[in-house]
Amino acid sequence: MAKLQEMTRKKSNYKNNIAKIAVISLLALQFGFINQSANAKPTIQTQLKDWPKINSPIKSDAATEAKIKSIISTMTLRQKIGQMTQAEIRYITPKEVQEYYIGSVLNGGGAWPAMNKHASLDDWVALSDAFYDASMKTDMKNPIPIIWGIDAVHGNNNVYGATIFPHNIGLGAAHDAKLVGEIGAATARAVRATGIQWAFAPTLAVVQNQRWGRSYESFSNDPYQVREYGYEYIKGLQGDLKQDGTVLGSAKHYMGDGGTKDGINEGQNYSSRLEMINKHGQGFYGALSAGVQNIMATYNSWDNSALGDTAGKIHGNHELLTEALKQKMGFEGFVVSDWNGIAQVKGCANDHCPQSINAGVDMVMVPEDWKAFIDNTTKDVEEGRIPMSRIDDAVTRILRVKMQMGLWDIKPSQSKYAGKIDTAADQELARRAVRKSVVLLKNNNSVLPLAPNKKVLVIGNSADNISNQTGGWSVTWQGNENTNEDFPNATSLLKAIKAQIGEGNVTYSIDGKGVNPKDYSAIIAIVGETPYAETKGDLRFPAPLSYSSRFGDEIANIERLKGQGTPVISVLYSGRTLYTNDLINASDAFVAAFLPGTEAQGISDLLFKGKDGKIKYDFSGKLSFPWPSDACPPATNEPYGNYKPLFNANYGLNYSQKTNIGKLKLDKRETCQK
Ligand code: GLC
Repeated sequence: MAKLQEMTRKKSNYKNNIAKIAVISLLALQFGFINQSANAKPTIQTQLKDWPKINSPIKSDAATEAKIKSIISTMTLRQKIGQMTQAEIRYITPKEVQEYYIGSVLNGGGAWPAMNKHASLDDWVALSDAFYDASMKTDMKNPIPIIWGIDAVHGNNNVYGATIFPHNIGLGAAHDAKLVGEIGAATARAVRATGIQWAFAPTLAVVQNQRWGRSYESFSNDPYQVREYGYEYIKGLQGDLKQDGTVLGSAKHYMGDGGTKDGINEGQNYSSRLEMINKHGQGFYGALSAGVQNIMATYNSWDNSALGDTAGKIHGNHELLTEALKQKMGFEGFVVSDWNGIAQVKGCANDHCPQSINAGVDMVMVPEDWKAFIDNTTKDVEEGRIPMSRIDDAVTRILRVKMQMGLWDIKPSQSKYAGKIDTAADQELARRAVRKSVVLLKNNNSVLPLAPNKKVLVIGNSADNISNQTGGWSVTWQGNENTNEDFPNATSLLKAIKAQIGEGNVTYSIDGKGVNPKDYSAIIAIVGETPYAETKGDLRFPAPLSYSSRFGDEIANIERLKGQGTPVISVLYSGRTLYTNDLINASDAFVAAFLPGTEAQGISDLLFKGKDGKIKYDFSGKLSFPWPSDACPPATNEPYGNYKPLFNANYGLNYSQKTNIGKLKLDKRETCQK
């Protein structure tokens, strides 16, 4: 057994270990060592043969179950279905929450109290109290407190002035599971500051194709890293769900959202069952092992040939939502559908889908059409299309979680975190996370770190652009309708550099036109993708994965300034790994910063020596996805035939490594062929 334990999970590249896993698994199978109760910190990477039983640390108890049973026995059918309904705050009032016995509300990205983008924490808390009070004033024999869910996916990113942490793709590069837990805990406190009790996080996609518009929401393409981070994030976010300052987490999107063909958002996942079980399920095993009590169903479909399914949408898939999750893995919490996700099930609509509820969805996210949903679903039960036992099971699960959270005990404003955020502490944590999440890919002739007392020229579309720095899900859903004024506490990299070396040493010109590079000791080009979320971020085949095919001005500006004796340091903000050979060739040093959030000081900490001329902070980030070597890489960008990535996952330089990169081949393809 000791031998087997050696395979303690390291920051390994999943693919490289698969062969070893196969051997270990055969040995383990032979001696019966397979660890089927896949806890969050796998000691050996096993090839699971079926959905594993998970021992959750948060379990129900007889007293709770008895209480739930007695409450349900006093509920009418409409009260039960109201409890299963989640409406969006733009389309429901507290009065209607009371009248229709609504169990939950959410705010989508870009929705704030009174639709005021700059709403204060007190505004959020007041609205949360209003919904809570309304839910407790219904004419039910036993009123049930409402629960409000929010997409706090990199800090409480919806709230004006909140600290925004690096998106998950950067946290994956930090390779620091403890840090992920700290960020989960900080996010929970920031969510409680608004009076809200539920964060729709973390995304546990194991992304295969960087074309996916949600690649940045994924930690890694290594399922074991995703599993460990799912565990730590939920531990941080939820604790035991009983403490003030923790919130309900939502492991999403269950499952296989990161494995669709061509990375098409909400598309078709053609994985085998074993692939689903051993790759796309791993993040959920981690989160479940930490006690996550909510799972969000995924939009994508799964073409489960073993079941003879024709790419059924998972919102209607009984095998995954009930047999696998609830029966085999033993999940006692509740499943929420995604935004109008039920409508994607064959024969369903936004306001009507008995198939989805029968498949295992317990709470329906029906933002606008919630009244019709309640009417239609009531009829479904009355006319036998949904058995009452399924309704009772769904309501039992919802009540169980609300009781575990103690929602009856305090109203939102009574939390000691309500209306308060420890911004200084959050900014310090975020800055540390940024330092650990950015990756040094090139540093020819050790041009970095820079001296702190020389003149630098800063250029680029992202030097002073907080939106490009934070990406999607930042104040708004897409993140592209904001200005720097919408991030009052944020620090752009330009601002951070000025603070680091003094304003007098910094010249900023977005395109560097009319500037003589010879006047400077270094040129820092800060370039990036513009923000996107979900489908709007998809890079649909046959588009190339090259940065410059979409942002040609940036490379043109750098080309104009390079090679005149002043070194060029490029910093790229991106939601995914991209083909950037032209940028890398034009730069003496190249940093992949992904989407660092509001605290760009974490990058300037690394770029410059301290005032004493010594290295204060060194790079430690290592890619959690491979970096493409051409504009049209294979789907997973892993070695394939004579293709190999420019940099493998786990690649990243630090200042002790004297690695020079020669000229890279250029691939100017504007479209890719299959
Ligand atoms: C979105 C996303 C999901 C999010 C939900 C609520 O469509 O798929 O991640 O939690 O809707 O905003």
